[in-house]
Amino acid sequence: MKKVRKAVIPAAGLGTRMLPASKSVPKEMYPVVDRPAIQFLVEEAVKSGITDILIITSRGKESIESYFDKNFDYNIKLSASGKTKELSELERIENLANIYFLRQKEAKGLGHAVLCAKNFVGDEPFAVLYGDDMIISETPVCKQLTDIWEEHGKPVVGVKEVPTEKVMKYCSLKTTPMEKEGLYDVSDMIEKPSREQIFSNFSILGRVVLPPEIFEILEKTAPGAGGEIQLTDAMAELSRKGGILAYDYEGKRYDMGSKLGFIMANIDVGLKHEETAEGLKEYLKSLKLD
Ligand code: UTP
Repeated sequence: MKKVRKAVIPAAGLGTRMLPASKSVPKEMYPVVDRPAIQFLVEEAVKSGITDILIITSRGKESIESYFDKNFDYNIKLSASGKTKELSELERIENLANIYFLRQKEAKGLGHAVLCAKNFVGDEPFAVLYGDDMIISETPVCKQLTDIWEEHGKPVVGVKEVPTEKVMKYCSLKTTPMEKEGLYDVSDMIEKPSREQIFSNFSILGRVVLPPEIFEILEKTAPGAGGEIQLTDAMAELSRKGGILAYDYEGKRYDMGSKLGFIMANIDVGLKHEETAEGLKEYLKSLKLD
């Protein structure tokens, strides 16, 4: 079974739920304590054995590219002022992986963004890390899924059980439990189902590992929910052909495209960060909440 070496991070969405801030700062660049959300995704991929990452961006998101590039002037200034710790952290980020960028010219949906990665992916399996889903876990979620790919040789989607109102906004999977705890066989799925169309409360949250065959399907996938080319519609076709697994991964997911998710991620990461943990704990305790 081919190892998963490549990952795609679609980050070209409009970010309308985070307006007005997202008008000029991409939501992927919002800081979680002291680093942009997208760095958590890149580090997760690298810790999962991924060596090549394609980030799909769009007009106005140039700051993502600059962040992973070398900034000579800044490095020289840090070096001159003896800030060696800060300098070595910047150099570490510059050298995390082979990071490539491609623009999606129009926001035609997540499926279309993934289709833009066709030439980058070639004939290999690949991971997709949905750009605004940050997940904190013991074992990187991407690794949890690539391990399943390597063991079973089938595409696998990361899932969680979510309340019905959320299923209707995300997607719903028709699942049958398998022997391994948390692993399911998927025979169908639907994007943004109505209440009557729901198969189960399992929704895909943030991570999938796919075979290159997905591109042929995406090329034929018509716009679906919201007039966008939906990745779920293409994965549904794969699942109906009997080829998809779902894994209820270990990890806490933050929807960084939503105001609440962004605040929750900052609180949870801030409570673990050595410079902020103590002060933040005291501050939270001091709040007189009803
Ligand atoms: P979302 O639907 O959550 O992101 O897409 P969005 O479109 O930015 O959200 P709102 O509703 O306008 O606030 C899931 C992921 O797919 C990417 C997004 O960047 C996000 O990471 N995406 C979505 C693309 O790359 N291209 C698209 O055309 C749509």
